[in-house]
Amino acid sequence: MARKKIVAGNWKMNMTPSQAVELVNTLKPLVVSDDVEVVYCVPAIDIVPVVEAVKGSNVTVGAENMYFEDKGAYTGEISAEMLVDAGVKYVIIGHSERRDYFKEDDALLNKKVKKALEAGLVPILCCGESLEQREMGVTLDWIRLQIKSDLQGVSASQVAGMVIAYEPIWAIGTGKTATTEQAQEVCKAIRDTIAEIYDASTADAVRIQYGGSVNAANANELFSQPDIDGGLVGGASLKADFGKIVNYK
Ligand code: PGA
Repeated sequence: MARKKIVAGNWKMNMTPSQAVELVNTLKPLVVSDDVEVVYCVPAIDIVPVVEAVKGSNVTVGAENMYFEDKGAYTGEISAEMLVDAGVKYVIIGHSERRDYFKEDDALLNKKVKKALEAGLVPILCCGESLEQREMGVTLDWIRLQIKSDLQGVSASQVAGMVIAYEPIWAIGTGKTATTEQAQEVCKAIRDTIAEIYDASTADAVRIQYGGSVNAANANELFSQPDIDGGLVGGASLKADFGKIVNYK
């Protein structure tokens, strides 16, 4: 089964609402593609204007985070239902910046993944090793542990519709991309892990992105690998270059 490529921008804490609308309009003609699904994961405050601004285009909107509770006294948090009602389709869960700066652990991320799926959102679940872990040779063990922990209690059919992003922490925002071989090796290991926990058809269906200093020059080689189904793009998603990444061929 052919998996449709998916290229998602992760805007992080960039773009005020008015800048966001301007960026969407600038990128609109550049990101047109029949072969690639295009997603903008934007700051919470930009969601409503961006959903409006992408109307009629091939772009869908994602959030960068959410909370797992339905509603109530969780000051500052946003629920899955709020995202769905605002027109959001995807939600990034477990980005290394959230794991590191905001101390989100696998137990919490597992709850978020389950709630997102229950609400009808597609999680973009992030995993990735630090430089220290890579140098110690524990990358694949670490990634398997993250995936298994974060997907506990998630069904095969739910996983089949998900996106998993492999993002080596040392490659994020550093301009240091993983080599094509490194990226393919880990994305394949993720797919093998899904086959091991679930089955071959689930592993064949789940989409696995690479993220970490993806740019217009390296996208083609990365996205041409057999187990890499697109990218999660930070810095380069805020520029016209994003159009070149979407149209990487
Ligand atoms: P980068 O970020 O493309 O700026 O390295 C990727 C990410 O953190 O998702």
